[in-house]
Amino acid sequence: MRIFAKLITTLLLAASSSLAAPSKGCAYKVKEEINPPRGWTKHASAPADHLISLRFGLPQENFRTLEKHLYEVSDPAHSRYGQHLSKEEVEALVTPHPDSLSAVNNWLAGFNLKEDLNRSPAKDWVTIKVPVSLAEKMLDTKYYIWRHTESGDELVRTTSYSLPIDLHDHIEVVQPTTIFGRFRPAKSTISFIEDGDTVSASDLSNAEKIVAGESGVTVDASCNTTITVTCLKQLYNAVGVVPSGDSRNSIGVTGYLEQFANIQDLQSFFADQVPAAVNSTFKFESVVGGLNTQNLSQAGDEANLDVQFAFGISNPVPATFFSTAGRPPFNPDVRTTTNTNEPYSDWLDFILKQENPPHVISTSYGDDEQTVPQSFANRVCAGFAQLGARGVTLTFSSGDNGVGDGDANPATQKCITNDGRNATRFIPLFPAGCPFVTSVGGTASVPEVAVSRFFSGGGFSDYFARPLYQEVAVSQYLASLPKGTYAGLFNPHGRGIPDVAAQSDRFRIFLGGRIASIGGTSAASPTFAGFVALLNDARIKAHKPPLGFLNPLIYSIGASTFNDITVGHNSGCGTTGFNVTKGWDPVTGLGTLNFEKLKDVITSPFVL
Ligand SMILES: *[C@@H]1O[C@H](CO)[C@@H](O)[C@H](O)[C@H]1NC(C)=O
Ligand SMILES: *[C@@H]1O[C@H](CO)[C@@H](O)[C@H](O)[C@H]1NC(C)=O
Ligand SMILES: *[C@@H]1O[C@H](CO)[C@@H](O)[C@H](O)[C@H]1NC(C)=O
Ligand SMILES: *[C@@H]1O[C@H](CO)[C@@H](O)[C@H](O)[C@H]1NC(C)=O
Ligand SMILES: *[C@@H]1O[C@H](CO)[C@@H](O)[C@H](O)[C@H]1NC(C)=O
Repeated sequence: MRIFAKLITTLLLAASSSLAAPSKGCAYKVKEEINPPRGWTKHASAPADHLISLRFGLPQENFRTLEKHLYEVSDPAHSRYGQHLSKEEVEALVTPHPDSLSAVNNWLAGFNLKEDLNRSPAKDWVTIKVPVSLAEKMLDTKYYIWRHTESGDELVRTTSYSLPIDLHDHIEVVQPTTIFGRFRPAKSTISFIEDGDTVSASDLSNAEKIVAGESGVTVDASCNTTITVTCLKQLYNAVGVVPSGDSRNSIGVTGYLEQFANIQDLQSFFADQVPAAVNSTFKFESVVGGLNTQNLSQAGDEANLDVQFAFGISNPVPATFFSTAGRPPFNPDVRTTTNTNEPYSDWLDFILKQENPPHVISTSYGDDEQTVPQSFANRVCAGFAQLGARGVTLTFSSGDNGVGDGDANPATQKCITNDGRNATRFIPLFPAGCPFVTSVGGTASVPEVAVSRFFSGGGFSDYFARPLYQEVAVSQYLASLPKGTYAGLFNPHGRGIPDVAAQSDRFRIFLGGRIASIGGTSAASPTFAGFVALLNDARIKAHKPPLGFLNPLIYSIGASTFNDITVGHNSGCGTTGFNVTKGWDPVTGLGTLNFEKLKDVITSPFVL
């Protein structure tokens, strides 16, 4: 027996050392290839000296183990619930095998790339600035300038790249190569209130009360046309709930695409809607040089909406706004490095380095899933899992285009697959479809119905399989559909989107010194995150850890605390989309929050 075991060890060592052999002169093999993306045309060769920031993703050795830990510490029925992993524990689980590290190092050294290698804390990503000419040599490919027909945006990309055969097991993904995402904010509509209008939020709320629906709570009648922080606290059963400013609690909002959160607007908003918060502000974190210009005329509608509502609901919980640099249109002729990767990975590198990331973080941006290559989407999603394992709740807007953007039209890329078949398809949104985030759909009106001025993003991921935590809820919904409904238009085995919903229309914000009314599931994500911060406050007061990755909790013992939304649907792709039903549905998920009810569950002695 012993000898046999020893023999195996020797064989394994032999195998792994041959994998680690230098790959110089080794034959190349295609690593990834995509169809020319819809809506983009090849415009010209990329300039040889154009600098790009090339990212290599090395395999995360023990990701399955990390995932197992994540589910255990997030499952309220498990004895490890709430025992989140430390930064070091998570890093140890995603660090690549030493063979992968040395194989990649040797290969890069062969191109004289030794210094200026930028590594993620777990060493699972290596980033290096190289001119296009070198990237083409390394990846045996040719880069072109691609132009987006509709917007004129340009990207330097390729539709195929190769790696030495020996390295295929040591490098999972290289970008920017095949990503054609046009990452956008999920805000839909905005209109300014006439300058002559001097009615304050408190004047609005002195009106009569209306009943919110099944929860039976009463709400100011004005909430049916104008959503304020007061309305949301009424609707979600948190009237008068003010958390402590305990430094152990925290909330964050991400900003991209030069969306700046204006502090003067935030003060006006506080004065109007949360007077006790006046003079408090957020901490600003710049990611890869992201700015937060305080020029009032550059205040961002998305950023202002997100910080005003997330931080207005949760004040005085310590708040952080992250601004990550990079935005289209990218100018491929400029000699400075342009980092045109979809920017979640830059943000992830940054946040995973922090010892104490905020306990809940809201993001209101997304891409069509098919514009982000699956290999890259998997890695970004795995980054979100790492945050979840460390006890961070991540909320994402589910999008504003119902089951898909526009009418199925072969001339545009809308609702048509990019897999070579040109099939009509409900195109889900990424990252809302990542199973490790909580995706938030949209409602409107009192009583609440699925939003209809635009349509709540929802459906099923084509990349990510349905996670166990939503198996019962989603299969119940699918069983209720008439046989053959939308056959071939969606993946009935995919992760269902969204998980929950919140109000998403007619939010009263301050923008550039003026009062505006804004709508989009962009409003729903920061709203939900604000309430998660209040729930975490209750957890801290009960001497319990923060909620962390929320989905296993809300699909099990938390599910009955949600207000089920049962009216509406989410049109898209020339169809009426899915209908809202009793229980989970791909429009409003489990429904909207009942704070007091969920608080009772998460502070009960039965939930660790
Ligand atoms: C709120 O407005 C919607 C239409 O926007 C209307 O159907 C509903 O009846 C109103 N709610 C109340 C309580 O008046
Ligand atoms: C905010 O700060 C200003 C200037 O320091 C002060 O006059 C005002 O009383 C403060 N307001 C609140 C509500 O703390
Ligand atoms: C503020 O932003 C506007 C619009 O971008 C610009 O025209 C103006 O010059 C800026 N002002 C300052 C002081 O930078
Ligand atoms: C799919 O659409 C593209 C662009 O419109 C076209 O070039 C291609 O021939 C189509 N393929 C099929 C299989 O219809
Ligand atoms: C939605 O409901 C309408 C009206 O009851 C019905 O005609 C339609 O078939 C339903 N659609 C789906 C996808 O269930």
